[in-house]
Amino acid sequence: MASIREVAKLAGVSPATVSRVINGTANVDDEKKQRVLKVINETGFRPNELARALFKQSSKIIGVIVPNIENPFFSELAKAIEEEAYENGYKMLLCNSNNNEEKELMNIHMLNQLKADGLIMVTDSNNTIKNLEDNGFPVVLVDRKLSKINEIAIVESDNYSGGKIATKHLIECGCKNIVCMKGPQNISSAKQRYLGYQDICKEYGIKEQYIECGYSYDIGLIKAEELITKYPDVDGIIASNDMVAISVYKTLTQKGYNIPEYIQIIGFDNIKFSCLFTPEITTVAQPITKIGKKATQIIIQYRDGHNIERENIFDVELIERQTTKRKG
Ligand code: RIB
Repeated sequence: MASIREVAKLAGVSPATVSRVINGTANVDDEKKQRVLKVINETGFRPNELARALFKQSSKIIGVIVPNIENPFFSELAKAIEEEAYENGYKMLLCNSNNNEEKELMNIHMLNQLKADGLIMVTDSNNTIKNLEDNGFPVVLVDRKLSKINEIAIVESDNYSGGKIATKHLIECGCKNIVCMKGPQNISSAKQRYLGYQDICKEYGIKEQYIECGYSYDIGLIKAEELITKYPDVDGIIASNDMVAISVYKTLTQKGYNIPEYIQIIGFDNIKFSCLFTPEITTVAQPITKIGKKATQIIIQYRDGHNIERENIFDVELIERQTTKRKG
């Protein structure tokens, strides 16, 4: 099979001219264009997707779009992506979306203009992903699964098992009045964790009790007040993530509750803050660094024309610290 360089030589033009004729990306002198098309026809040259991508002057940029860089889960994820990208000769361009579809689409357009080699995205918007159809780069979704669309792969944790582990741990620590701070149910990670909580409640015959909550520290402060008002006898709290766990701890201690003696708290994620904070937060750890590196490896492998795994699920792990206390 002739290469793009051999076609250029036979047609007496540059490889870039051949690429322009193939991709129609710029005007080419008609006489030259006819020469190139004649040689393509005679040699049976077929541009492969990889050559096409390379002739798009791939920028070696991997775009990353996350909802909230203030949440250490996402900044730690971005750090892992950047390190893996750098190790492989790529650069990372980090974009913050605040879960705003317009911002997500604006950043995707920018990455298209920059000829990004791939996009790693955390989004809960089907609409945004549907709009990816006409872009030229592979998309890997991280952390949040959406209905079947255009991503080439998803990398996430086993959030369902994480919900079960958190609930079981509070039961094993003697909690009899557990309340779950239910993360945003339009997001698969929160939905799966709550399903895990529900199934353990059924298994142990305990009442489901919950407060709708989000994933941010500020929302956690507000929802902690709502929780203690609605459930004054609570003795175990499953926070939607570590940032919320920290905000619940702050609210309850300001009200004079002793943690973990009176109320026990477990978070989710195992962000670095969860062990820097005093007391150190008991949590369900997601392998944030592994998730970031895997998503980056998928983009690079895909660009190199290798096969990739579409579904990538990592185990989670209980990290017992100071906001829970086993009895006995
Ligand atoms: O802390 C941010 C949350 O959003 C994490 O729990 C992560 O799983 C994502 O869903």
